[in-house]
Amino acid sequence: MQTLLRPIVIRDLQIDPPLLLAPMAGLTHSALRQILFGFGGVGLASTEMLSAKRLPTESPRISPYLIRTPSERPLSYQLLTSTPDEIAAAMEALHAVKAEAIDLNMGCPAAAVGKFGAGFSLMEQPEAARSIVAEARKRTRLPLTAKIRLGSELDEAKLKSFCTMLQDEGIDLLSVHARLKNESFARRPRWELIRSVKQWLTIPVVANGGIFSVLDAENCLAVSGADGLMLGRGAAIKPWLFAEIARSLCGSTIAAPVVSLRVVYGDFIDHLNELFRPEYRLGRLKEFTHYFARNYKFGHYLASRVQSSASVEEAGDRATAFFERGT
Ligand SMILES: Cc1cc2nc3c(=O)[nH]c(=O)nc-3n(C[C@H](O)[C@H](O)[C@H](O)COP(=O)(O)O)c2cc1C
Repeated sequence: MQTLLRPIVIRDLQIDPPLLLAPMAGLTHSALRQILFGFGGVGLASTEMLSAKRLPTESPRISPYLIRTPSERPLSYQLLTSTPDEIAAAMEALHAVKAEAIDLNMGCPAAAVGKFGAGFSLMEQPEAARSIVAEARKRTRLPLTAKIRLGSELDEAKLKSFCTMLQDEGIDLLSVHARLKNESFARRPRWELIRSVKQWLTIPVVANGGIFSVLDAENCLAVSGADGLMLGRGAAIKPWLFAEIARSLCGSTIAAPVVSLRVVYGDFIDHLNELFRPEYRLGRLKEFTHYFARNYKFGHYLASRVQSSASVEEAGDRATAFFERGT
């Protein structure tokens, strides 16, 4: 198989292979990231979105959003903010935890986020977005990236002007979730529009949305011409997918993943128990199981048994019973 993707270098950071973990609330915490790095093939991992307002008061030792082990490197921290006023203190906190990169969330379409002028709503307020990027650029020398959607409707001129503004203000890499604001995850992603974004910009462009297999990755690259790929739900369903794509499309010589679903699930629970306070464990196990259960034909049964569990121990016992039936 020919090597289709080359490492991305932004400032002092080498993203090799150019396969990035998408930020996902409730999912891309230390427990999942450790499993992903264990299989290999992750060029840059991510936290979930972090409130810039709350960040300065979070304890990196205790906060489930900030806990991180030495194996999870390099790691990008995603900021959610609506105002440049929150940037300086948030950046200081991210420098203190030794972030390798900082991402600005400009794609989250949730109403609760939009209400405060953050996430996707920044794409509708380019001047607010510009002032946030300008302030962030002034406050850090770390690689500064942004993650966007395609817009609220198909409007290439508007999208172009937003993307070039981000580049002009000093964004080092742009990730594009190839959907419009209100398009559901069930809809086919519009990878072809990423090709336009790529033509407008000189910074690396990373394609995101709908990559669940090596074949999807190959198709996405062929259609988008992107410099790198970002995996979200696919990483939670198949944490070894990065390794498979790295070997197939990036010329990586890492070991072929040897997968035992049961071992992956057990490791995930162990990491939760080792790292997180008890009250932070069960919700994260349920969220992960919602995706991971898709590896099984009758996975909805596993997911619903875990969903109705009252503790991590009960969920673990129910999962063990499910695995022993060999479903
Ligand atoms: C459970 C969940 C949580 C998410 N949280 C975030 C987030 O915190 N920040 C963000 O920019 N996008 C978030 N997203 C969007 C993903 O980063 C990604 O753009 C989307 O899932 C499409 O990629 P995929 O098809 O590979 O999953 C989230 C998606 C899911 C499913």
